[in-house]
Amino acid sequence: MKLRNDKILIFGGGSGIGKAIAKRFCDAGASVVIVGRTEAKLQAAAEEINSRNLHYKVFDIADVNKHIELFDEVSTILGGLNGFVNCAALGSGVLGRGYEPWDITSEEWDTVTAVDFKAAYFLMRNEIDYMLERGIRGNILNFASNAAYTDIIGYYGASKEAIIKWTRSFGKKYGHNGIIINGIAPGATFTPMIKRYAHSIDQKYERHAIERFIRPDEIAELAFYLMSDYGEIICGHTVVADGGDNVAT
Ligand SMILES: NC(=O)c1ccc[n+]([C@@H]2O[C@H](COP(=O)([O-])OP(=O)(O)OC[C@H]3O[C@@H](n4cnc5c(N)ncnc54)[C@H](OP(=O)(O)O)[C@@H]3O)[C@@H](O)[C@H]2O)c1
Repeated sequence: MKLRNDKILIFGGGSGIGKAIAKRFCDAGASVVIVGRTEAKLQAAAEEINSRNLHYKVFDIADVNKHIELFDEVSTILGGLNGFVNCAALGSGVLGRGYEPWDITSEEWDTVTAVDFKAAYFLMRNEIDYMLERGIRGNILNFASNAAYTDIIGYYGASKEAIIKWTRSFGKKYGHNGIIINGIAPGATFTPMIKRYAHSIDQKYERHAIERFIRPDEIAELAFYLMSDYGEIICGHTVVADGGDNVAT
């Protein structure tokens, strides 16, 4: 099994799941640019991964009118661009609240949905546009969440459910053009996003049937499969990797 494409842009690659995917893909010989808003974080990730295939770029995905400009810059760095991993998100942890219907102000709503909802849509659309115009038979991997399948009322689950929906509809439409779009819906994965309640990878986590947190490298392995030459048979779907969180009873 090998990656279907090898010039990859990873949004949110400075930490957590995105960083683990960057390492996995560099190890497999791909050229990768990781993107985030914080230069120090990206630099630290690049030092840790320590691959000459890895580059980084500071960018805020909420700047939706500059996506194509960024893709052009990344393409210049990598000598092409044919794969995207959309892993950047603020997550509900950024407020520490937002699970209850009255637990968010309209200003907070605008801040978090500008990234987790609006930018998630425009990234997908602009990535497709970019590849269609250049005849690139590329890959897109989106990040949803187990939160999409729970009964939480806040914005996060709804934004992740939207990502599953767009993955399905864009995936079906543009698979015909050789653009393979899939998603992953992780359960609680040991990253900075869940540091409010995840203090150690060895901590027992009974909400999952496997009674532990998921490791970022485990998600990275699934990402590798979905973006491999085998992965296109799963086209337009979001694979749930939640350690048995939302298994129907
Ligand atoms: N960890 C979990 O338990 C879990 C569960 C389900 C789903 N997920 C999803 O998995 C994905 C990865 O999450 P993670 O756990 O790896 O979280 P993380 O470590 O917090 O990584 C998210 C990354 O996104 C970047 N980011 C945030 N806003 C951005 C923006 N506006 N523009 C560019 N980059 C931005 C952050 O860097 P800067 O702050 O420097 O920009 C950060 O490096 C997310 O989509 C998350 O919703 C995570």
